[in-house]
Amino acid sequence: MLMPQVHQSLYPSKTSLILPKPRIYSHSHASSLVPSRSSFTKTKRNGRVGYKTSNNVKAIATEFPVQLTKLKANVTVKRNDGSKRKRSDRTSGTLRLELVFADLDPREERSLTGIIIYERASQAGQADDDVLYEAEVEVPRDYGEVGAVFVTNEQSEEMFIKEIVLDGSPHHGRVLLTCQAWVGFQQKRLFFTNKSTYLPDKTPSGLRRLRQDELVNLRGNCQGERKKGDRIYDYDVYNDLGDPDSPSDLRPVLGGKKLPYPRRCRTGRPRSKEEPSMETRSKYIYVPQDEEFSITKQKSFHERKGLEIVHSLLPALQTGSDAEAKFPYFTAIDVLFNEGINLPSAQPERTGSWMQKALEVVRKAKDGLRFETPQVMKRDRFCWFSDEEFARQTLAGVNPSSIQLVTEWPLRSKLDPEIYGAPKSAITDEMIEEEIKGFMTVDEAVKQKKLFILDYHDLLLPFVRQVRELGSATLYGSRTLFFLTPQGTLRPLAIELTRPQMDGNPQWKKVFRPTWKSTDVWLWRLAKANVLAHDSCYHQLITHWLRTHCATEPYVIAANRQLSAMHPIYRLLHPHFRYTMEINAEARNSLINAGGTIESTFSTGKYSMELSSVIYDKQWRFDHQGLPRDLISRGMAIEDPSSPHGLKLAVEDYPYANDGLELWAIIKKWVSDYVNHYYPEASLIESDSELLAWWEEVRTVGHGDKKDEPWWPELKTPQDLIEIITTIVWVASGHHAAVNFGQYAYAGYFPNRPTITRLKMPNEDPKDEDWKLFLEKPVEILLETFPSQLQAATVMVALSVLSEHSPDEEYLGEKIQPVWAEDPVIRSYFEIFHGSLVKLEGIIDGKNADENFVNRHGAGVMPYELLKPFSKPGITGQGVPYSISI
Ligand SMILES: [Fe+2]
Repeated sequence: MLMPQVHQSLYPSKTSLILPKPRIYSHSHASSLVPSRSSFTKTKRNGRVGYKTSNNVKAIATEFPVQLTKLKANVTVKRNDGSKRKRSDRTSGTLRLELVFADLDPREERSLTGIIIYERASQAGQADDDVLYEAEVEVPRDYGEVGAVFVTNEQSEEMFIKEIVLDGSPHHGRVLLTCQAWVGFQQKRLFFTNKSTYLPDKTPSGLRRLRQDELVNLRGNCQGERKKGDRIYDYDVYNDLGDPDSPSDLRPVLGGKKLPYPRRCRTGRPRSKEEPSMETRSKYIYVPQDEEFSITKQKSFHERKGLEIVHSLLPALQTGSDAEAKFPYFTAIDVLFNEGINLPSAQPERTGSWMQKALEVVRKAKDGLRFETPQVMKRDRFCWFSDEEFARQTLAGVNPSSIQLVTEWPLRSKLDPEIYGAPKSAITDEMIEEEIKGFMTVDEAVKQKKLFILDYHDLLLPFVRQVRELGSATLYGSRTLFFLTPQGTLRPLAIELTRPQMDGNPQWKKVFRPTWKSTDVWLWRLAKANVLAHDSCYHQLITHWLRTHCATEPYVIAANRQLSAMHPIYRLLHPHFRYTMEINAEARNSLINAGGTIESTFSTGKYSMELSSVIYDKQWRFDHQGLPRDLISRGMAIEDPSSPHGLKLAVEDYPYANDGLELWAIIKKWVSDYVNHYYPEASLIESDSELLAWWEEVRTVGHGDKKDEPWWPELKTPQDLIEIITTIVWVASGHHAAVNFGQYAYAGYFPNRPTITRLKMPNEDPKDEDWKLFLEKPVEILLETFPSQLQAATVMVALSVLSEHSPDEEYLGEKIQPVWAEDPVIRSYFEIFHGSLVKLEGIIDGKNADENFVNRHGAGVMPYELLKPFSKPGITGQGVPYSISI
C-alpha cells in the first residue's frame, strides 16, 4: 500500500517541478509523461520478452506539491576476468536501474505495474574483486516500498551482478536485492527485492503483472535453438548422447515409452538429417544463463579438467600406443602415486603434435605428474584384498545404498527362463550353512534378518551378451551374500556369477566362496573383482547419476518455469539447484556421451545409459528417494516408534544410515519450520496455483514417463509439501554428498573398486592353455582382468575432478541465504538448522572415535565422514553442499 504523506519537504513545489533528465517517474497527475505500464513497449526477440521506455520522455512535471526523498542505489558487480564473456568493444560505463514500486498507484486506474523510476548508475569504485556502481534517485515519499528493480546492462561486457542495495527509504530502511546473476550486454533483467517473498495470492498489486510476465519469459515458446545468454527453461529427451555423424556412436533416445527417462534441458539444437531422432552434437551445450558456473567455479573445474589430458596420457607415454595395456605388476600402480611418471627422454615419432604439446605440459607441470594418494590406500595399503573391508564398504563406502535384506529363500531369477536359463540360484542351503556353521540354519538366518545381498543378477543378465560382443569387457549377472555377525559386521558368504545361454552354450553359473584352497582363493578374488565392477557401474549410473544429477534436473526446470523467484518455495529450493544443470550439461558433453569416460572405462560400455533407463523404469520411484523410505524398501529398516528417528535398523552400525538419518531429521525440521511459516493452513496449499503447477509439471512432464504411477505423493497439505521438499533437499545434499565426494578416496586406488573386468572367469568354459596360465600366473590374470592403464588413469582423473569441492562451494546450512535473513522468524529457524548441523559434526566425530562402531573405527579403517556437513575446498571426503554441483 502507499505510505501516508510525510510533512517533510525537500522540494515543496506547489506547481510544476522540472526534474533533470534522465530521471523519470510515473504519477497519476503527470499522465502525459508517465512511463507506466501502458507506455512501455513489449518486444519479443529470440523468444525473450523485454521492455523499453519511450524515448521522448525528457522530464516530468507535476501539478501539486511533491515531497521527495533521495534513495541511494549501490550495485556490486563482480569484476570480469575478461576471458570469454566479452561481447563488444562498445562501452558506455553505466547500468540503467528502474525501480518498481510494490503497489499500484490507486489514482492510476489503467496501470498494471507499480510505479517505475529510472536512473543510471555509474562506476564509483572498486573493492577486491568487485566493481561498485552508484546512483541517486529522487522519489516522492508516498510511493511506498520498492518491490523490484530492472537492471539494463549498458556496458560492453556481460556482467555478473552480485547485489543491489537501496538506502535512504524513510519507511523501509535498507532494501537489498541479492542478484547473483549474469546480465548480458544490453540485456534487461528483473530482480525482486529480498523482502518480496510472497505466495501468489499475496503478491503486492504493483508486482503481480511482473511476476506473471517473468514466468512466461522463462518458459519460452519451445521454438528455435537456444543461445548463450538465454534464460529459457524447457524440456527435452536425452537424444544428444550419441553422434549422428558417426555410425558407431549412434545411441538410442532416452525418454519415452520404449526407454523411459527423466527429461533434460532443451537446447533446441537442430536434429540430424541422417538420424532425425537425434540432436546434432556441439561442443557448447546450452544451459540457462543463471545456471552457469561462476567464474570461480569455472576456474576450479577447468583447471582440474585441464590435467585430464595430461594424466590420461601418462600410461600411453609409458607403454607406447597400446591403449589396452595392463599394469605389468602391482607396484606399477603405486608409481602413479609415489614417484610420478618417468618421461621418455626423446619424444617418440608416433606422437602427433597434440601429444608433443602434452608432453611439454607434463614436463613443465611437475606437480601435475603425480596423483594424490587416495585415503583408502593411505589407511591400509592392503585393504582392497580383505573380505571384511569388501563387506564394510557396502555399509560405509561410496555406494552404501545397494545392500539389502534377503527376505525370500531360495533365491530365484524373475527373468524369462526361455531366454536366460534356469531361474533357480546355484547357492544352496548347504553352502550357506557350511559358512555359518554353528550359528543357525539358513531359514533361521532369513527369519532373524541376518542375510544380506548385493543383487545385480536380474539387472545385468540381460546385458551380458551385448556387452561381451563388444569384446572389450566381460559381464555376468551377480549375487553376493553376506551374513551379519554377532560383532555387527558383515561377512561375505558367497558370490554367484551367471552367464545366460548364448552362442550355442548353455547357461553358466558358478558359486564362489571364501576358502583355504589356493585355486579357489584366486577364483574368489577374481569373483570379487567382478562384483566390484558391477557395484561400480550401478553406483555411477544409478546411485549417483540417475538418482541425483539426472532425477533432479526436472525439479530445477519445473521450479523456474512455474514458481516465481518471489515464491517462498522457490526461495527455499534455489540454493539446492545451484550449478546442477551446468554440471549435467558437462556430463552429457564428456562423461555419459557415446565414447565418453563412462562408456570407455566401465563394464557396461556403450550400453551404460540404456541400462540406467531400464533401471529407472524398474526401480526409480519418487517416494523411495527419501532416506527413511529408501532404507525400508531395501529391508534395512522397519518403522519403530521407540527407535531413534522412528526406525529400527537391520544393521545397527550402518554409518551411511546412522549419519544420514540424523541429517534427514535436521533437514526435515528446517523444512517443516519454513513450510509451516508460509503455509499455516492447508487451504493455502490448495490455493497456491504456482506450487500446484510446479508439482504437476514435475510429475507429468519432467518425470512424465512415470506420470501414471500410483506412488506419486499428493500435494494437498503442508505435511505433503514438507515430505516432498525434504526428499528433494536430501537427494541434492545428503544423498549426493554420500555417493559423490568419496569417489576418489575409495576408487582412486582402482584395485579397491575396479570399474571394469576385462577377462571372463578362468573356470568359465576354460581352454587348457588358459587354465594352465591361470594356475601358473594368477596375479597376471588378475591384472589382465582389471582396467587397462589408460582406463585406470582416465577414471582416476575423472574421480578426482568429481570428488573436489570448489572454493566457492556452499555447504548446507553453513551461511544463511540473504533472502531467508530478511524474515526474523525464518532467520531464527535457520539458526536452529545451523546449530544442529554444527552439532552433527561433533556427533560424527564422536562415532568415528568410538571403538564400538566397528564399521567406521578400527585399525586401517577409514572413518565415515561423507555426511559431515562442512568442509574446506579440495578433495576432503567430507562436506555436504546444498546442491549437486559436481
Ligand atoms: Fe556428482
